[in-house]
Amino acid sequence: MPSHDRSRIRTLALAALFGLLAAFLLPGTSAGASAALRQHAAARGKFIGAALATGPLANESAYRDIAAAEFNQITAENAMKWDATEPSQGRFTFTGADAVVDFAAANGQQVHGHTLVWHSQTPGWVQSLGATAMRAAMREHIAQVVGRYADDPAVVSWDVVNEVFDDSGNMRTSFWYNTLGESYIADAFRAARAADPDARLCINDYNVEGINAKSTAMYNLVRTLRQQGVPVDCVGFQGHLAIQYGFPGQVQQNMQRFADLGVQVRVTELDIRMVMPRDASKDATQATYYRDTVNACLAVTACAGITIWGFTDKHSWVPDTFSGQGAALIYDENYRPKPAYTAVHDALAGGTGSDTTPPTAPGTPVASGVTATTATLTWTPSTDAGGSGLAGYTVHREQGSTDPQLGQSAGPSVTLTGLSPATRYEVYVRARDGAGNQSPASATVAFTTATGGGGGPCAVAATVQTQWGNGYVVQPVTVTNTGASALNGWTVTFALPAGHTVTGSWNATLTTSGQTVTARNAAHNAALAPGATATFGFQAGRPDGNTATPSGYACG
Ligand code: XIL
Repeated sequence: MPSHDRSRIRTLALAALFGLLAAFLLPGTSAGASAALRQHAAARGKFIGAALATGPLANESAYRDIAAAEFNQITAENAMKWDATEPSQGRFTFTGADAVVDFAAANGQQVHGHTLVWHSQTPGWVQSLGATAMRAAMREHIAQVVGRYADDPAVVSWDVVNEVFDDSGNMRTSFWYNTLGESYIADAFRAARAADPDARLCINDYNVEGINAKSTAMYNLVRTLRQQGVPVDCVGFQGHLAIQYGFPGQVQQNMQRFADLGVQVRVTELDIRMVMPRDASKDATQATYYRDTVNACLAVTACAGITIWGFTDKHSWVPDTFSGQGAALIYDENYRPKPAYTAVHDALAGGTGSDTTPPTAPGTPVASGVTATTATLTWTPSTDAGGSGLAGYTVHREQGSTDPQLGQSAGPSVTLTGLSPATRYEVYVRARDGAGNQSPASATVAFTTATGGGGGPCAVAATVQTQWGNGYVVQPVTVTNTGASALNGWTVTFALPAGHTVTGSWNATLTTSGQTVTARNAAHNAALAPGATATFGFQAGRPDGNTATPSGYACG
């Protein structure tokens, strides 16, 4: 569609929505406690956004409904990247980009254009150009893509360059840098400014959320570029975080030092992944990371807002990119809000999100009714002084660096199921409050399950899903109850070839002794009705050149 037609339709849609928008954009309008995220964000002068993918946007009404209701800012997850907008030289295609912009305009949302110059998702024809032709192609691409939306009121900002640093904070030796030198960065910003003098122009990167060597390199680059008159208006912190790596240090201070250079800052691609399987305690930790990110932005005037990289675990790049990890977003795969949603909501609402006081540690648990596969634990309740109230407890097995969760409860007692027979367990309890704060661990209690029971007739089949020079993934390993009665717990053993090491597993707990690996059910897949199956998987490393994989799978 020619761009003047696009603008006219846009104007009508905006006019129709004006009354609705005014209701929450006007100063002094306060958002009710249960209002959508976008209303609370607008009341705080911030945006709350989501990256949208064109597939579900076209095909799923639940996806569209939440995207429209909860967010006031949109980024195209892929549709505005070079491989989508100029797949071959001079042939521009905006079908996906327009679909995202039209959706945003129809719902009174602003669009952040992502991304113009990046080393990834850029067609081969660009990468193989010589210096003069590459610089010309970059300028032309920016002129066409930014130019298309320059008069479109919905599109307000752009990631002009993305990920120009490597992980240590040196210039990334991408084809851009290798062919054009560092000057491509300034050139790209100048071309974007020429194509749309009103758009806010950003530089965007990952692992720059806290104060570290890479964010300091970014800080120095932005300062230098601005001293040289290069139009850098904004710095984007992607925010691809993981609960197993800890929350970055000094996020608010980092945002503030960029703000002090005179640029706007924003969190552009927030997601907070976990090692799967998901459980209540990981959800609670994830919620605190979301809360702390939102609170950092709220505390810095120059922080414009936060974009979450998707919103539902049904559509997220994380499981495809980070092996064995997932559940990084604020809605689950069935579009149900997670504790992370509540944390973002409450932080934006300025209510219980400001509770950072964890509950006290629970009393030492007492074990009773121990059978081959079950045990009941009871403890003295925690108290919570933070104001958001106790939300529940999780029970963990003491097992070194990562302690698996065995159960959870709302009150101070739980019956654990799916335990392995004749096994010593040392367990402790943690409490969490409504804002996601976790208490310190209680003292531990040890008990040993009775022998017998639990195991039974079962069959096992294993598939090597993928392998590479020095490693492989076995998935699924399928355990089938071949007996006539229900199983409550199962064990699989197999032989690990010499020199191999198990580096990760999911949906079972693996222990290695010599060359024998024993995989025990997780709590959630212990119970198997006759004929039912459970699956788990694992990853292993092996010496370079070795092509062996495990054998001798047995189930009991
Ligand atoms: C990711 C998308 O989410 C995936 O769908 C795609 O396959 C690869 O790119 N940094 C960025 C984003 O700037 O564009 C990336 O998005 C995630 C990392």
